[in-house]
Amino acid sequence: MIKPKYVSDIVTHDSDDDLDVDRQAEGKLVLEHRVSTKLQHVGLQVWRGALLLADYILSNPDLFKDKTVLELGAGVGLTSIVASFLADKVICTDVDVEGILKLIRKNFVRNSAYSKSKILIKELDFLNLQWPTFLHKRIDEATIILAADVIYDESITEGFVLTLAKLLNSENPKAAYVALEKRYVFTTANMDTVAPMYEEFLKCIERQNLKWHIEYIKIDFPRYFKYDRVRHMILMKIENKLSE
Ligand SMILES: C[S@@+](CC[C@H](N)C(=O)[O-])C[C@H]1O[C@@H](n2cnc3c(N)ncnc32)[C@H](O)[C@@H]1O
Repeated sequence: MIKPKYVSDIVTHDSDDDLDVDRQAEGKLVLEHRVSTKLQHVGLQVWRGALLLADYILSNPDLFKDKTVLELGAGVGLTSIVASFLADKVICTDVDVEGILKLIRKNFVRNSAYSKSKILIKELDFLNLQWPTFLHKRIDEATIILAADVIYDESITEGFVLTLAKLLNSENPKAAYVALEKRYVFTTANMDTVAPMYEEFLKCIERQNLKWHIEYIKIDFPRYFKYDRVRHMILMKIENKLSE
């Protein structure tokens, strides 16, 4: 890959642990990612959900302008990077496997020309709800949560629902935008076509007795990125009914 001249691999932070970026630099959106990985390292690829959410952000700038945005399971960071074009603060999280957080940092630095927000990149694991006090305080400030294609495995889906439940239960009301591809499969057990993880996601919400309001957003907003916007993709806006 040819690096544009502003790209630097040196990553530095300010006293709040926010990423230092050169906001004067110019260039186009450049991401380092992999085209294929083992299942445990899927975050190193860019998924369609990230592109769908990025399109949604760019189509609805007023929703994101000057907000504090938290992304869960950010992968290589595309959606968070796009959110940082508009938001006041972006907290970009994922599990720290296979150098993923380091890669996110580098991708933010690569695209710093367009970014206007403060950026915090930290580990947030759906399977561990004991967040460090510093991180808890920072993520509590978020009013928008983003998650793209994090519903693809049973244990992660359950962890994701519990994480979202904790976040939406905050005194500071939040709306979560969750993009996913239903991934239909035909099973002989059901003799039917099913979307197991999406269905598991809904069952999990029911099992946890969560009073969520789920709005399905029509995905006919403009496209800024080139990808197949397949009909099995969905975008949900999730809010805690209690916070209404
Ligand atoms: C299919 S990838 C989607 C990545 C990115 N959001 C995208 O759409 O390109 C799933 C993401 O969930 C993350 N993930 C997996 N297990 C997780 C966990 N226990 N806690 C938080 N994130 C997790 C992965 O590291 C990966 O980034």
